[in-house]
Amino acid sequence: MLNDGRHQALDTGNNSEITRILFGEDEIRARVRELGRRITEDYRGTTPVLVGTLKGSFVFLADLIREISIPITLDFISVSSYCGSSQTGAVKIQKDLDESVSERRVVIVEDILDTGITANYLMKWLRARNPADVRICVLLDKQARRRVDIAPDYVGFEILDEFVVGYGMDYNQQYRNLPHIGILRP
Ligand code: PRP
Repeated sequence: MLNDGRHQALDTGNNSEITRILFGEDEIRARVRELGRRITEDYRGTTPVLVGTLKGSFVFLADLIREISIPITLDFISVSSYCGSSQTGAVKIQKDLDESVSERRVVIVEDILDTGITANYLMKWLRARNPADVRICVLLDKQARRRVDIAPDYVGFEILDEFVVGYGMDYNQQYRNLPHIGILRP
């Protein structure tokens, strides 16, 4: 059962699987706005390229870029390393970037930093392509499960070791369309 009375918002056909809303739409919007403001200030005078990792980051990225008021460009990369909810440790690039990042300021945009294996791999992969610099912006940081030494530059929320879905994040490809972030029944 939900704990905040917003039963209507969860009516996506899968609602019995969501036990609790962790971050509602308003809270997410306010935090994303703040991240956009910070990126705007930090990158003023430059044109960074924001690299979204498919698929999980697409909702966050879509909202984030509309809170950034300097010129940016956008690219996408698709990586996979999970099988269901298990991190296999073997990161594979499924879709490469479309544009060169040489001499560019790069911001990797991730929905969640869990073990950190995906982001760590991407940082190394991008740094080998001669960018001006590379930073990471994550909506959720789940430090309890970290398996590599990586510290994100921009963090939306720190979360405990719970399985989250919604706002782009999935379990077996479902729940990405939830407008909030919820905890999936164990
Ligand atoms: C999720 C998420 C990150 C990664 C983080 O992707 O989008 O890329 O896991 O986990 P890690 O820190 O343990 O490496 P996932 O492989 O589930 O694919 P998706 O983005 O298509 O949902």
